[in-house]
Amino acid sequence: MSMNPLLRRRYRLDETPVPFVLNGVAETGRRGDTVLTAILSVSGSLRQSEFTGEKRAGFCLIGACQDCYVMMADGRRVRACSTALLPGMAFITDVGAMAEIGHE
Ligand code: FES
Repeated sequence: MSMNPLLRRRYRLDETPVPFVLNGVAETGRRGDTVLTAILSVSGSLRQSEFTGEKRAGFCLIGACQDCYVMMADGRRVRACSTALLPGMAFITDVGAMAEIGHE
C-alpha cells in the first residue's frame, strides 16, 4: 500500500520509537500507539477487505464493530483499534501479501 498516510502524528513526537513490520517493510510507531494508529500513521489504509479488496480504516474506533481486524504475519488476527503496538509486531494488510503467505 504505497500512499500517503491517513493520519499525521502531531503529538508525542518525542515518544519512544516502537519498531514494527507492515507487509514486509520495517516501520516505526510510538510507545502508546494502538496498532491502528501506528499503521495509519505510515499507510493510507488499515487493510484491504479479504472479500472485495476495498480499503478499510476502521469504523467505530472503540472495539465494537470489528472493521479493524488485521492479520499478523503469524496468522493471528488482532483488533487494531484496541490492541497496543508492541515492538516486533508484524502485520499483513494487503490481499496480495496474504495470498503469497497462504492466508487468503
Ligand atoms: S474500528 Fe471498530 S472494532 Fe476497531
